Amino acid sequence: MTEEGNITITVIDRLGEAHELEAPTDMNMNVMEVCKAYELPVKGTCGGMALCSTCHCYVISDTELPDMGGDEEDMLDQAFFVEDNSRLGCQLRITPDLDGLRVQLAPESEE
Ligand code: FES
Repeated sequence: MTEEGNITITVIDRLGEAHELEAPTDMNMNVMEVCKAYELPVKGTCGGMALCSTCHCYVISDTELPDMGGDEEDMLDQAFFVEDNSRLGCQLRITPDLDGLRVQLAPESEE
């Protein structure tokens, strides 16, 4: 059971292990920050500015998501291992709509 104001998202790490994370919808957090809060291996180097792609993930649920902003599109153009369902975790704000979201962390690119 999720507490009121929290949603549950599932993050599959790079070893294929699924982590169910409870995320508050009222703290202006994004998926990258929630992963970091649970100490999953998401660097979030740029602090959520859509400038580094270390929060790159694949969306594997059919959750309805906000459209990509221009910054996110530009960054994903330059990222490695991009697929049709690629998103930047830092650009996915935790809202009630994201309840049940499942994402998989993209491989880390060698830089
Ligand atoms: S944290 Fe840098 S692009 Fe998301």
